[in-house]
Amino acid sequence: MIRSAYRVLRPALFSLPAETAHGAIHRGLQTVQHTPIEELLRDRFVVDDDRLAVDAFGRSFGNPIGVAAGFDKNAELPSILGALGFGHVEVGGVTAHAQPGNPRPRMFRLVEDRAIVNRMGLNNEGADAVGERLRTSPDPGIPVGVNVALSEATDAADAPEDYRYTYERVADVADYLAVNVSCPNSEGMRDLQNRDALEAILGELVDAGAEPLLVKLSPDLPDPAIEDALAVVDDFDLDGVIATNTTTDRPSELESPKRVEKGGLSGKPIEDGATEMVRFVAERTDVPVVGVGGVSDAAGAYAKIRAGASLVQLYTGLVYEGPTLARDINEGLLELLEADGFEDVEEAVGADL
Ligand code: FNR
Repeated sequence: MIRSAYRVLRPALFSLPAETAHGAIHRGLQTVQHTPIEELLRDRFVVDDDRLAVDAFGRSFGNPIGVAAGFDKNAELPSILGALGFGHVEVGGVTAHAQPGNPRPRMFRLVEDRAIVNRMGLNNEGADAVGERLRTSPDPGIPVGVNVALSEATDAADAPEDYRYTYERVADVADYLAVNVSCPNSEGMRDLQNRDALEAILGELVDAGAEPLLVKLSPDLPDPAIEDALAVVDDFDLDGVIATNTTTDRPSELESPKRVEKGGLSGKPIEDGATEMVRFVAERTDVPVVGVGGVSDAAGAYAKIRAGASLVQLYTGLVYEGPTLARDINEGLLELLEADGFEDVEEAVGADL
């Protein structure tokens, strides 16, 4: 019923500017959150099956499908997203200081390509506000990771202290910390993926006691740079790698006229490349990999799992497929596991390696 309702609603939503539609969905979800409707949704959408459970970096996830960073920037929706069947939410990117992000428009649908280009520029309410919200909200019932990014106003040289400030504001409420050094929309941020900068930032966070600590990488890193980043993950004994963020690349097959917009591309066109990066990372590290990029169905999630992802996240797929997506993927995963003779998701992780 809700799937067909979204199909009916989608043309109306898609007639609005992308960020306006996102705002409407956001407000709708907030309205039903913590009401009896949330419990009705939870009954219908959570696929409660032990075969979907995943233990990763010391946390227990009821299923492997999570909401990627950027969807719930200010940690306002974890509970309702859990009721829609997601197994975790990564909130943020959160910066030390509140910031407005780039001027609008800054988010574009490439409908023909089932993709989005965004240059939001890390608009968020800042670490103090997000930490306080997480602290005072009812327990969402699913793990909530916090994606931490560099404040626009902070020089790259002061990045370690800037990340630490945010960490300290969310330390007691984050189930994991994702260090975002891969957002293409913040001047110079992706340069923080070089070995020296990464060592400084991660060293500071490890010193501060951040744990579990994951790092989120760009799909635009050349292979040697990924290997460098993984060496740092190893040196600092980090807990996981998230692959990948959006790309500044524009594959030649893109059809939508919006492809010329500046920003990071997400959705279907990045799916296979992201899966390949999951595989590349999983082949070179023992820590859990979180696979993200273009997932919009069970087959796509399963491909990332088989390539080595312990958890899978998505954002753009939700825009195109609607609120039944987590349930549809989890139900589909159970069928795919059964067809291939796997006992559970954990057994399928890295099956293709
Ligand atoms: C994002 N993404 C993102 N990532 C991140 O680490 N911090 C952030 O603040 C954001 N913000 C953000 C905003 C918007 C509008 C989009 C579409 C995406 C990237 C996101 O988490 C994910 O890595 C990519 O979008 C690829 O996954 P999908 O969208 O193809 O499933």
